[in-house]
Amino acid sequence: MLKVSTAPMGWNSWNTFGDKVCEKVIMETADAMVERGFKDAGYEYIVIDDTWSLKSRDENGQLVADPVKFPNGIKYLADYVHSKGLKLGIYSCTGYKTCGGYPGSYGNEFTDAKTFASWDIDFLKYDNCYFPEHKDNKYAYLTMANALRTCGKDIVFSACNWGRDMSWKWMREVGAHMYRSTADIFNNFHSIKNIIDEQYDKFNLSGFGSFNDLDMLVCGMTGDGYVECEGLIDEEKAKNLLICNSTEHRLHFGFWAMFSAPLMLGCDIRKVREEYVKLMTNPLLIKINQDQDARPPMEFKTTYFYHDAKNFVKLLADGSYAVGLFNFNNKEISVSINADQLGFPRYSNIKLNYTDAFTGENLGIFENDFDIVVPIHDCKIYIVNTK
Ligand code: GLA
Repeated sequence: MLKVSTAPMGWNSWNTFGDKVCEKVIMETADAMVERGFKDAGYEYIVIDDTWSLKSRDENGQLVADPVKFPNGIKYLADYVHSKGLKLGIYSCTGYKTCGGYPGSYGNEFTDAKTFASWDIDFLKYDNCYFPEHKDNKYAYLTMANALRTCGKDIVFSACNWGRDMSWKWMREVGAHMYRSTADIFNNFHSIKNIIDEQYDKFNLSGFGSFNDLDMLVCGMTGDGYVECEGLIDEEKAKNLLICNSTEHRLHFGFWAMFSAPLMLGCDIRKVREEYVKLMTNPLLIKINQDQDARPPMEFKTTYFYHDAKNFVKLLADGSYAVGLFNFNNKEISVSINADQLGFPRYSNIKLNYTDAFTGENLGIFENDFDIVVPIHDCKIYIVNTK
């Protein structure tokens, strides 16, 4: 059976393209993945989200790709994506229909898994709209997991039930390789902070084999996608939310990295500014995210307490540490760390050497306190080596 030992990395069409996803977008995205360095950084899956099929099944009960959006069919795309050394993903739903109103897999799980395998699909995002309320959601995910396990092809199972029925407690049992535990992300700081706030009690429930998915990244999105400026029940309020600036996107990417969350790019990677390519292919942040042990980050106390700030240390498999300071306050904060707070009391005689994960700059050893200023809605992440 397929082993997913680190969080999957890739790109998903929904955030930017919504129902405008098509063959051209997927092929150009595959090209950009290679040409702009994402593939070399570890990104692998290109996922076609909702709205890819016709509104009804064919006479054999099979899903059919929309011939206008995908004139050469899905197998052709899979071949193209594979020729670039990448993998192709597709989308379906536990219910009668997908969230966008296209046919879902309810009662057709085994047929659909076989269809996906025949198209050489490598990844399935499995959403949860139109699922009958009185039915067991856990069983629906188990059924699709079994359909995939018996379809003859290794397919990553990416479950997306937004945390319904506390899914973080059972998605590993039913075979999901990654699972959404949150509502949909939007490109504003309110949404990102909400998702993060919901995760503090779930850190331990993600790791080898089954990763907690905090949703696709909105890093690099500039206001013209499908997930801009919404995310509140109060639509009037939502209109007043600003889209994230690049500092907030840095905090967003940094948190997903520290948490070992799947890194599914959501911006238009063909056009995204180079500054963002650098951020999302940053080798030290990806090293932290893809660490073989995938240990959850542990909160630690610094010398000063700030209400809306979090400090984490993550033990890495190579013996080093990742230290992350996240500032959700609407003001800059000054933080001070000493080795004792990271579990190295003075009598240990261990010295800590800090490297800035964003710039790669080695900052050296701090014998006493390491003083750091974290700007508004920003984060600092360090790789710390012991001497
Ligand atoms: C749900 C999912 C999103 C996206 C849309 C598509 O809202 O959570 O990630 O797949 O459906 O309709």
